[in-house]
Amino acid sequence: MPEQSDHIQIPRHVAIVMDGNGRWARQRGRPRTYGHKVGSSKVHDIVEESKELGIEVLTLFAFSSENWKRPKSEVNFLMELMIQMLKKEIRKLEEKGVQVRFIGQRELLPEKLLKVIADSEARTRNNNALILQIAASYGGQWDITRAARVLAEKVARGELLPEQIDEKTLAAELAFSDLPDADLFIRTGGELRISNFLLWQAAYAEFYFTDVLWPDFSVDEYHNALRHFSGRQRRFGQTGEQVSG
Ligand code: IPE
Ligand code: IPE
Ligand code: MG
Repeated sequence: MPEQSDHIQIPRHVAIVMDGNGRWARQRGRPRTYGHKVGSSKVHDIVEESKELGIEVLTLFAFSSENWKRPKSEVNFLMELMIQMLKKEIRKLEEKGVQVRFIGQRELLPEKLLKVIADSEARTRNNNALILQIAASYGGQWDITRAARVLAEKVARGELLPEQIDEKTLAAELAFSDLPDADLFIRTGGELRISNFLLWQAAYAEFYFTDVLWPDFSVDEYHNALRHFSGRQRRFGQTGEQVSG
């Protein structure tokens, strides 16, 4: 990466909202789906670079709970694109030691995609060079609501007392409770919002927003985000003196 690599702090978990595909295509007089296609081709290099840098977890927002409200033709295109991408990349990911996981409301995904997901997860489950999480049909609110329901069921069965519910017991029921929370949250496409991506797990993430549209996002842009991250003092509620002393 950058020059003084010994001063660079590498985040353990990077989460990216890959936004701006539609606008990128419209700027070129092309259909939104063209933007999704070009955008999907950018994922490969970011995954590769994450692995090279020793990042442990990369979580990519591919499709939100709310994206189901888009025109059916665009939704179908995106589902098919995920199937094609996985089929195309899975062998290389497998060989490179990348573990693939999906997070999101699976029961809404088409059967054909579920099959490819199951296959990808099974083939890469013992890999540990990088954990690549694809968030599809995912929403932070869905995740927290689901965890609350699991706890309520435990209480109803008499396995848990309401007073035993704390941050730890709730966090344990969330998606990827075995992984560290996001350290760096990147959003491309210029919007300054979270759009229901990681809510709980971004509690202490550092945010990096860029106007660059996802199909233009490059490894250089990724380095810019990482450089910003590296320059920030993370205080986690403490004083600057406490964390630097
Ligand atoms: C992000 O790009 C991809 C998905 C949400 C699936 P958009 O499709 O949201 O692109 P813009 O924001 O309309 O440009
Ligand atoms: C967030 O982008 C979801 C993904 C990138 C997958 P959106 O384009 O759906 O977000 P909004 O609607 O602009 O908030
Ligand atoms: Mg968008």
